[in-house]
Amino acid sequence: MVYINEISAHSGKNVTLKGWVYNIRTSKKLVFLIVRDGTGLCQTVVAKEDVPDQVWELAMSLQQESAIEITGRVNADDRSIGGYELHVSDLSLVSQAEDYPITPKEHGVEFLMEHRHLWLRSRKQWAAMRVRNTIIYGLHRFFQDRGFIQMDAPIFTGNAAEGTTNLFETDYFDRKAYLTQSGQLYGEAMAMAHGKIYTFGPTFRAEKSKTRRHLTEFWMIEPEMAYYDLAMNMDLAEEMVSFVVSEVLRQNRDELEILDRDIARLEKIKAPFPRISYTEAVERLNSKEMQEKLDEMEADRKKEAEVLKEELSSLDTEFGQAKKGRKFQIDRRRGEINARIDQIEEDLRNIPVWKKSALKKKWGEDFGGSDETLLTMDEDTPVMVYGYPAEVKAFYMKRDPENEDIALGVDMLAPEGYGEIIGGGQREEDLEILKKRLQEHNLPEEQFRWYLDLRRYGTVPHSGFGLGLERTVAWLCGLKHVRETIPFPRMMGRLYP
Ligand code: 4AD
Ligand code: MG
Repeated sequence: MVYINEISAHSGKNVTLKGWVYNIRTSKKLVFLIVRDGTGLCQTVVAKEDVPDQVWELAMSLQQESAIEITGRVNADDRSIGGYELHVSDLSLVSQAEDYPITPKEHGVEFLMEHRHLWLRSRKQWAAMRVRNTIIYGLHRFFQDRGFIQMDAPIFTGNAAEGTTNLFETDYFDRKAYLTQSGQLYGEAMAMAHGKIYTFGPTFRAEKSKTRRHLTEFWMIEPEMAYYDLAMNMDLAEEMVSFVVSEVLRQNRDELEILDRDIARLEKIKAPFPRISYTEAVERLNSKEMQEKLDEMEADRKKEAEVLKEELSSLDTEFGQAKKGRKFQIDRRRGEINARIDQIEEDLRNIPVWKKSALKKKWGEDFGGSDETLLTMDEDTPVMVYGYPAEVKAFYMKRDPENEDIALGVDMLAPEGYGEIIGGGQREEDLEILKKRLQEHNLPEEQFRWYLDLRRYGTVPHSGFGLGLERTVAWLCGLKHVRETIPFPRMMGRLYP
């Protein structure tokens, strides 16, 4: 058996592929099957005159997603997906599929989500999961290469880490337990044992908001480092993100193309990233320049849409006469253009809303999605915003020694409107201050006894952060909604499949 992604090594030879029928086209004397095997797609041709009758009959009877073993000669062919075509000599059925619900026609998102277990086989979904895999593996490598110890934080917890409003509560024998919102507090304990650690696990938030950035179950990678201050924390965060982007570019070119991702934009993601204080960020939002920039953006977008629409109509004209290979290119370009036009139309709807909300932003308020979009709109790379109002941040954040109202927290905001991908900061290391913070946040000291012990026995300055995996996948794949970044998304309205 040969896998499709190894087929180039077998040019001119006979191979057997084991997979599924992705697409079928039949004519009187030829059946074109696109076969998928998990590693890629391969065009195959069954010619009536070259195969025994029963093979021909079988080829004609196949359904989309029927499982098959297929043998033939590998021919280089520029016009085929992947550059090779299989000239079939033999074919056998592993199992015939029933009428497959996901056809090449357009389906609504709700329908696709109901069939998520099958939708995962579709090309874009396939590509996104492979990018996710690269990110996960890349993150592990990044930390392992730098001497970090991976730790598994518990999923049942007795205390809240990120505020009490979005906790999932469950019965734990005769007590209450909560599904963890973050491994951080446990990570801090482990960092005092190992110096540098990271957790990589599922985290849970009862998010009642239905946005495209929120899941109720998502995966977070959380490094925690003893003796790191806020600046060192930011250095690590930008180095990690740059590394992960470079890994995806190195390993997932094909996948990014399938996703119609603008690769040139990703190539610009290199550390260092801009760092601005929260206070500067608010000033930026409130400024006259921001209003002017948005006006400019509106005009630019309108112009860009016009140009794209012209290109689209000339491609449409060309398509009729184009040869197969060129048709393939045209299709790809049309996909890119349509995606971009959708984006532009969304921007044009948003701009008036953004203009108003930017002016209204006051010091002390947390940032929302639109603020994050505006703060990154001129940047190629993510932006780090540090020094948030302590009021809006968690109890464990250390305050700025020069200004009690400011917490030494940092968020990393991804460009292109993908919003906050990282939250973190320096932790409060003083026992008495931390006790006071627990009180201020109405958190029971009793549940945090173990956490306070970390400040009793050799407390040191320390910092860390959490990267949301799904938001990172969405950004790097150029996916609108986090529901397509995880195999089986969990959201307020979704527990099936
Ligand atoms: O900013 P957050 O809440 O930070 C923490 O949980 C810290 N304890 C992390 C730390 O310092 N160790 O969450 C971190 C990241 C966010 O920036 C976002 O990327 C992601 O987790 N995130 C979500 N992703 C999907 N759905 C949700 N509901 C998310 N909530 C947070
Ligand atoms: Mg946050």
